[in-house]
Amino acid sequence: MRIALIGYGRMGQAVERVATARGHTVVGVMGRATPNAERTAIAETADALIDFSHADAVETNIALALHTARPLVIGTTGWDAQRDALAQRVQQSGGAVLYAPNFSIAVQLYMHYAVALAAQLLRLDGWDVAIEEIHHRGKADAPSGTARALTQRLQHALNPPREAVYPAPPNHPLPETQFCVGVLRVGSEFGTHRVLLDGPYDWLEITHRAKSRDGFAYGAVRAAEWLRGRTGFYTFQEVLTEILTPTEAD
Ligand SMILES: NC(=O)c1ccc[n+]([C@@H]2O[C@H](COP(=O)([O-])OP(=O)(O)OC[C@H]3O[C@@H](n4cnc5c(N)ncnc54)[C@H](OP(=O)(O)O)[C@@H]3O)[C@@H](O)[C@H]2O)c1
Repeated sequence: MRIALIGYGRMGQAVERVATARGHTVVGVMGRATPNAERTAIAETADALIDFSHADAVETNIALALHTARPLVIGTTGWDAQRDALAQRVQQSGGAVLYAPNFSIAVQLYMHYAVALAAQLLRLDGWDVAIEEIHHRGKADAPSGTARALTQRLQHALNPPREAVYPAPPNHPLPETQFCVGVLRVGSEFGTHRVLLDGPYDWLEITHRAKSRDGFAYGAVRAAEWLRGRTGFYTFQEVLTEILTPTEAD
């Protein structure tokens, strides 16, 4: 597959490494300063576009994918407020876009099981929960897209419901009806997410820590392979189901 990259920073370079190892070719790279005509020309040489750039660029990147009729995988985070409107535009235009705030297969499974465990324990008396994320200093958005997704899923799963707060209230105690999302920025940390559970007799910390960026890149490349020939606005869930479903050869 011929792949064009939008954004050639830490993640763009990881995607190039992983895509090349899977036998694909990176045919072009678009940066902040790439003129529109050149962006269109690069996109037209590609079978798929993969975007790890900046939230401000996502709307333009979707417009490019629709204009050139190329499938687009988006890993860029921090554009949740625009997501529903842009998804609708993709559906109406017959385009193909797949977005995940975290393309790590392990993180997706982690979120599923951590939320299920938290929801079960919080049905018992005396349990509390918090989420923490730690990333490198260069990260542009906070909380991370993954922490937001984890928070949303937890909010849906909790009964009675609790509202997430970020940051912690600066001058009053945390009400029983809320839970905290904590954010730290330090050095070159690839990404750590933690669900903290505090019970009357037990303390649980369920942690995922990325060892490199290649796990995110691998998921994004698998998503680009999956998206080929499809139309619609997708999440990583469909790709994950395909990756995790045993085949006859297994
Ligand atoms: N979904 C996932 O699994 C996952 C995993 C990790 C990171 N992310 C997200 O991916 C994004 C990129 O992360 P990163 O660590 O690779 O950041 P990064 O190292 O800062 O790289 C971002 C790149 O995008 C370029 N860029 C900025 N605006 C652009 C535009 N309008 N058009 C094209 N390129 C543009 C930047 O160019 P300049 O240098 O010229 O500004 C830079 O090369 C972030 O939103 C991050 O949260 C997602």
